[in-house]
Amino acid sequence: MKEKIDGILAELKSEIDSVKTNQDVTNIKAKYVGKSGYVTELSKLMGSVPNEEKKEVGQMVNALRESVNELIASKEKEINDAILNEKLEKESIDITLPGKKIKRGSLHPMTRITEEFEDLFVSMGYTVFEGPELESDENCFQKLNLPKGHPARDAQDTFYLKDEVENYLLRSQTSTAQVRAMESNTDKGPIRIVCPGKVYRRDEDATHSHQFMQIEGLVIDKNISMADLKGTLEVMMKRVLGEKTEVRFRPSYFPFTEPSVEVDVTCFKCGGKGCALCKQTGWIEVLGAGMVHPNVLSMSGYDPSVYQGFAFGTGMDRMAMFKYAIPDIRTIYGNDIRFIEQFDRKDVD
Ligand code: DAH
Repeated sequence: MKEKIDGILAELKSEIDSVKTNQDVTNIKAKYVGKSGYVTELSKLMGSVPNEEKKEVGQMVNALRESVNELIASKEKEINDAILNEKLEKESIDITLPGKKIKRGSLHPMTRITEEFEDLFVSMGYTVFEGPELESDENCFQKLNLPKGHPARDAQDTFYLKDEVENYLLRSQTSTAQVRAMESNTDKGPIRIVCPGKVYRRDEDATHSHQFMQIEGLVIDKNISMADLKGTLEVMMKRVLGEKTEVRFRPSYFPFTEPSVEVDVTCFKCGGKGCALCKQTGWIEVLGAGMVHPNVLSMSGYDPSVYQGFAFGTGMDRMAMFKYAIPDIRTIYGNDIRFIEQFDRKDVD
């Protein structure tokens, strides 16, 4: 046994210098301490060692295993150190090179303008209200004083859903959230809301898209008059389009407001002198508004002899076009990052 042990150790010592790679290490491990390696096989012979020698032989086998493991481990370390050193020598890092620039994203112009409207109205005591894009015929038309068959529905041809949701459509106008706001306000007290969100209509040219981003407003209280509406819209337009902007009201017709107005602002391009954009008029139409029709109030549970209200609705896309001088509305929805990047910090003046 003793000779065997010495023999194994001597063989390993003579072989270890030829171990050069990690693969060699794996092989030599298998040969000596693997499942049927020399040391393992030797341990299996312990059974045949006479009892009185067992202790001594056992210690020798253990000492052998330790020496073998140590020899192989130090060789393995030597090899790995050499690999690492070589790597370190080859790979040098030039710490004077400039770092990789992290690209900063920019807010989409529609996000910017939506936040601007929200901030302004919140500062005036409004809350931001949300309504769904998929709306019922009732909320989109009937409760806004447009019963089935009303001719004014024609101007708002949109996308209807068939079958089990036949009476649903993509909201076609900037006035539908107000119905929800009035109905959900169970104490039937005052309301001050603005509602941003998408609206869908059959429209597509350079200044109109089949989809646009509305900002709808509704105020309900006692003693509300056209003067409140006018003041509010003036503040809004000046804030968003610049202090020099003037606002003009023209009588108009909407079934859900009485009286109704269309609102123009001085042309952002020529400042009111007249140019191709405003068709030499100096004015650009931006908004529909009016005093909430008594029928609309009572259909949503408000007593029109006690409460009055004003409402307005506009497309923020067009406002963004004016503000940022975007020539084609379709670029707003093109998802081209080069377009979006141009608005980075543009509205900080
Ligand atoms: N809803 C109208 C549209 O989408 C505009 C509008 C909004 C008219 C609010 C209003 C009003 O009288 O109160 O074209």
